[in-house]
Order: sequence, then C-alpha cells, then structure tokens
Amino acid sequence: MMILRAARAAELPAILAFWQVAAENDSRPADTSAAIEALHRRDPGALIVAVDSDEIIGTVIAGWDGWRCHLYRLAVAPSRRREGIGGRLIAAAEDRFRSFGGTRSDAMVLDANQRAHGIWAAHGYSPQPEWSRWVKALPAPETPR
Ligand SMILES: CC(C)(COP(=O)(O)OP(=O)(O)OC[C@H]1O[C@@H](n2cnc3c(N)ncnc32)[C@H](O)[C@@H]1OP(=O)(O)O)[C@@H](O)C(=O)NCCC(=O)NCCS
Repeated sequence: MMILRAARAAELPAILAFWQVAAENDSRPADTSAAIEALHRRDPGALIVAVDSDEIIGTVIAGWDGWRCHLYRLAVAPSRRREGIGGRLIAAAEDRFRSFGGTRSDAMVLDANQRAHGIWAAHGYSPQPEWSRWVKALPAPETPR
C-alpha cells in the first residue's frame, strides 16, 4: 500500500539516486548530498515522498519560505506512472501550503517537458506569460581565515 509522508534523514541518499532515474534533470543545478541535507535540516517536512513497501516511488518538494509556495522535484518512478501518484503528491504539497496560509502555488516547469505539462494543467496550473525567471549563479562563500 502506498503512503505519502515526509522524507526521513536516512532516506536522503536513496532519494538522490531516485532522482537520477525518475526526475527531470535538465537545465538545473546538480543535486548534491549537501543540498538535500540542507533542505532537510531547514524544513524537514518540505520533502514529501510516496513510499510503497519501503520503496520510494515518488517525490515532491513543497517549499514554503514564509512568503510563497514553490514546488520542485515532482517525480514518479517510471514503472509507476499514470496511477495517480503524481497527482496525490501535488495534492499533499498543496495541503501543506494551505496549512501555512499560502494562497498560490507555483512550479518550475521546462517549456520542453511536455510530459509534465499534462499533469500540471490537469491540476489547475498554467504558465504565467507576463513573468520570466531571472537567475544568477552564486559564487561559493569565502572560507573564513
Ligand atoms: C510528470 C509525472 C510526475 C507525472 O506523474 P504520474 O504519477 O504519472 O501522474 P498522474 O498519474 O498523477 O497523472 C495525473 C494526470 O496528469 C495528466 N498526465 C500525467 N502524465 C501525463 C502525460 N504523460 N501526458 C499527458 N497528461 C499526463 C493526466 O491528466 C493524468 O490523468 P490520467 O492518467 O487520468 O489521464 C511523471 O511522468 C514523472 O515523474 N515524469 C518525469 C519527471 C518530471 O518531468 N517531473 C515534472 C517536473 S516539472
């Protein structure tokens, strides 16, 4: 039976491996152990996993920064797609946002990722043509002397 719950610290390496096979990995910073551990330390409830018989079969990051609601890393195991798992992950993330008083949820979706457009549209999301994302890669912090 599948359950959705917050990821546990011991699962973080398995989630990194899962994203290698299940997630969209183009045009984005590489996932690292340090990055996923930092997320989990800062907000342990943000990383939601779908688990079936102890196997991770889906993920989403429901990031609430105190101001806005951002979704990342929606992914379902290739062998378990079109069973409604992605939709349940989106619903769980939205429940989390509502519990904080969030009023609008957004997702970063590659224009070329047609497979993803279907699920976002099916759950009420649409592109916002009047906005573009402006990005800058941050240099690593200077090491203290
Ligand atoms: C996108 C993804 C998460 C969808 O997960 P899923 O568990 O298969 O989605 P669901 O079964 O909940 O689908 C819900 C609805 O979304 C739509 N949908 C899902 N996949 C679709 C597809 N390939 N094409 C068109 N519509 C699709 C359908 O309306 C579907 O309902 P239906 O099966 O009754 O027709 C999954 O394909 C995936 O992991 N893709 C690779 C990673 C990725 O691209 N993530 C999104 C990053 S923005």
